[in-house]
Amino acid sequence: MANQDKINELIEKRVKARLGGGEKRIDSQHAKGKLTARERIDILLDDNSFEEFDMFVTHRTKSFGLDKEIYLSDGVVTGHGTIDGKIVYVFAQDFTVFGGSLSETYALKICKIMDMAMKIGAPVIGLNDSGGARIQEGVRSLAGYAEIFQRNIMASGVIPQISSILGPCAGGAVYSPALTDFTIMTDKTSYMFVTGPKVVQTVTGEVVTAEQLGGASIHSTKSGVSHFLAENDEENLLLIRKLLSYLPSNNLEDPPSISTSDPIDRLDDILNTIIPENANQAYDIIDVISTITDNGEFLEVHRNYAKNIVVGFARFNGRSVGIVANQPKYYAGVLDSESSRKAARFVRFCDAFNIPIVTLVDVPGFLPGTGQEYGGIILHGAKLLFAYGEATVPKVTITLRKSYGGAHDVMSCKQLRGDLNYAWPTAEIAVMGAKGAVEVLEGSNISKIEDADEKQHYIEEKEHEYNTKFANPYVAAKYGFIDDVIEPRNTRFRIIRALELLANKKDVNPPKKHSNIPL
Ligand code: HXC
Repeated sequence: MANQDKINELIEKRVKARLGGGEKRIDSQHAKGKLTARERIDILLDDNSFEEFDMFVTHRTKSFGLDKEIYLSDGVVTGHGTIDGKIVYVFAQDFTVFGGSLSETYALKICKIMDMAMKIGAPVIGLNDSGGARIQEGVRSLAGYAEIFQRNIMASGVIPQISSILGPCAGGAVYSPALTDFTIMTDKTSYMFVTGPKVVQTVTGEVVTAEQLGGASIHSTKSGVSHFLAENDEENLLLIRKLLSYLPSNNLEDPPSISTSDPIDRLDDILNTIIPENANQAYDIIDVISTITDNGEFLEVHRNYAKNIVVGFARFNGRSVGIVANQPKYYAGVLDSESSRKAARFVRFCDAFNIPIVTLVDVPGFLPGTGQEYGGIILHGAKLLFAYGEATVPKVTITLRKSYGGAHDVMSCKQLRGDLNYAWPTAEIAVMGAKGAVEVLEGSNISKIEDADEKQHYIEEKEHEYNTKFANPYVAAKYGFIDDVIEPRNTRFRIIRALELLANKKDVNPPKKHSNIPL
């Protein structure tokens, strides 16, 4: 063959590979409102930065007539490229080839890029759209999944791993995304479940649609499996770019720092009046967050799940931080099992990737009752406690209003190695609120008073006395548990100064194989 013919052969092969399962299946993918694997990669990465690996890989199965059905790339597109100039590795499952189902060689392709990402310290992004294990390959396909799982586990806490779910994700295949740091699902066209609706009906008799069982909205609100919900494929992919803009490429790097035009000494008078005069009245913690962060920007994680706590990424003077904040707008910002787990996972992610944590506290306590106790609130609350206490990144805590009981300790208090703990003058730091305290301390005296008006007067008087004595920041400040009481409008400046002060902070945990967080 002449050299030019050899070159033409290469070009032809590339054209063929890029067609995946062929025009008809591409049209069918588009008709479902979904993009193809390569179209997705184009949106995800910087222009012309993608270099594909293993385009000529094919499966090795001969049975079920598969020896006559061979597609270059074998249903997954893998390689590397850049996002905002930084190297990332990516795999995109190609639904047009055997429904994106995973074969042995397909798994090896994913493992190859994961191994390379680990060697050079770059994030791995998985674009999932697959019918799961390739049925014709049997156990080799299961082994392939396990090879990927093992790599997910080894990479956890070393390089960021992000999973987009852009189509079906069924069976054990859901566990690879679950092992990664963030999962982003596209509304209406993606779903995740351990067993599909048909199996559910056979085993339990429950009749349920795929959307009801594991659609994006379910996993973004009820289960918390998905961290972000996107309207369509494009939004999903652009969200990955945004998320990565806050993260370092690996656990040995500092998070990115960018220049900002937002003044560091901007005073926000609105914060001086944001706390309602009535301590039982709600306000929106997002208003506080968007007032103090650079340009009011905040990338909220798990926005629709366990809304009584807010977590997400922002910047102060151009530096990435993770924000954890109680949300008085939902259930008065109380800590329950779900919000504790949500925040604990976020705190651990930030700590693993050197991202400082800013905590905004307004918490009335842990949610009491059998519902929570039976659900294991003790263990879930302990997760958050553990995560904060274990974290060695800079930790800046601002108490805005309530900080009661066990929840006070959990929310990055001084003794859990909170580095700088500030409080607003409206802070109430105590063992419990006035109502509960008076009931416990004065119960026997109150029960002796027969006249109703007199009883009410006595309770109010005692509550007032308790509030004056304990519901303020100065008792904690007296003991040095609070480093300073600050004017609310100075919050942005104080946080920025604290983070600068802590930029070279070094804190260590004792050597151990690993901790035993209460799972
Ligand atoms: C081989 C598969 C396949 C699979 C789909 N296809 N899933 N081929 N192995 N697992 C093929 C179909 O035969 C079809 O081929 C093409 O992909 C598109 O599939 P359709 O069914 O036409 O598409 P759609 O109607 O959109 O339905 C998609 C689907 C459905 C919901 C994913 O195909 C499905 O239910 N597939 C099986 C899912 C499943 O049970 N997987 C195993 C899970 S267990 P043609 O040639 O017609 O285009 C598992 C274990 C993992 O994954 C364990 C890890 C520990």
